[in-house]
Amino acid sequence: MQKHATPMLQNLRAQLAPVAARVVTPLAVRRLAAVTAAVMFLVYAMGTLVTTTKSGHGCGDSWPLCRGQFIPEYATATAIEFVLALAAGVLWLWRARLEIRILAPVMVIALFAEAGLGAALVLLPPTALLLALHFGSSLVLFTSVLLTALLVRQLGDWDNLRDRPLPAGYRWLVFGMAGFTYVVGFLGAYLRQRGVELACNQWPVCRDGSLLPGAAAGGGIAFAHRLAALLLALGAIGLFVWGRRLRDSRPDLYHGSQWVLALVLAQALVGALVVWSRVAEVSQLLHAGLVALVFGALCYLCLQSLPRPARTRLATGEATPAELRTLTGATTTS
Ligand code: HEM
Repeated sequence: MQKHATPMLQNLRAQLAPVAARVVTPLAVRRLAAVTAAVMFLVYAMGTLVTTTKSGHGCGDSWPLCRGQFIPEYATATAIEFVLALAAGVLWLWRARLEIRILAPVMVIALFAEAGLGAALVLLPPTALLLALHFGSSLVLFTSVLLTALLVRQLGDWDNLRDRPLPAGYRWLVFGMAGFTYVVGFLGAYLRQRGVELACNQWPVCRDGSLLPGAAAGGGIAFAHRLAALLLALGAIGLFVWGRRLRDSRPDLYHGSQWVLALVLAQALVGALVVWSRVAEVSQLLHAGLVALVFGALCYLCLQSLPRPARTRLATGEATPAELRTLTGATTTS
């Protein structure tokens, strides 16, 4: 039985290949990826809307139906359909690109983790751990889709720039900032979960004209969130200045760092709006939505700061002599 399976499968694959090649063109996948990234951002924003308007708990214990009609029901279904279609659509790059072999499973796993954790947050009392996991999974889900979209979009273009040399410190800075954004965001989400959004009720100072929160409940978290945000903004300025110096050889990093700086500054400004408007829903929505874009832009810089996998460089004739020897198994140097 097993012996016949392989030729049968091969036969099937041979028959399907021309059909797949006609339907799954690079252009079609590129478009699907762009639409999926936009859909995921909307779903992320809707999720934020649900928590902002406290509708998540309006669902009681009836997730995923939420009284049979609220947004999460179709938002979840739409997200699942698009992400699975994208994961299937990028399979043509499976062998050629290590990044796709990582990103495609990550996006599918994060999708189901997100759905499960979202359900848990509705059904169970929210804890800091649950909140951290949910916040993390939603960022990973959106970012894996965004990176896939950016990767397929710039194949044969800015993708090649990744092979150019880059100071190791730059790589450390972008990876550090991406990790740190998660910390800043978690502190913010924790503020909200504890219901102490206005522990620091002024901006740029914290309370009563002082930079420090005094004995206000949640003051420590609010202060830590602001201090961390300040560090992130300084990091974004540093990244931009460094990116500007590298702009001739690495326009990808320069443009990416412009995005990061603009988004981080907008995020901080909207944070101030949250305080000035006494936590108006629209300001909360913008503040929570922007963090996905900040994280996504930083992760794009992480991707671009890593050289393309050696096998890809071999295919485009850009592998180093040492990599060539390893990949081809050659033992002599020429
Ligand atoms: C620039 C980096 C910043 C990042 C990445 C960031 C991120 C976040 C995130 C992810 C949340 C949770 C939103 C949610 O649970 O839906 C949050 C909440 C909050 N942030 Fe920030 N924030 C930043 C800067 C600031 C600044 C500068 C301020 C104050 C001026 C601020 C004030 C607040 C407040 C009051 C909350 C709680 C209310 C809410 O949920 O919107 N943030 N932040």
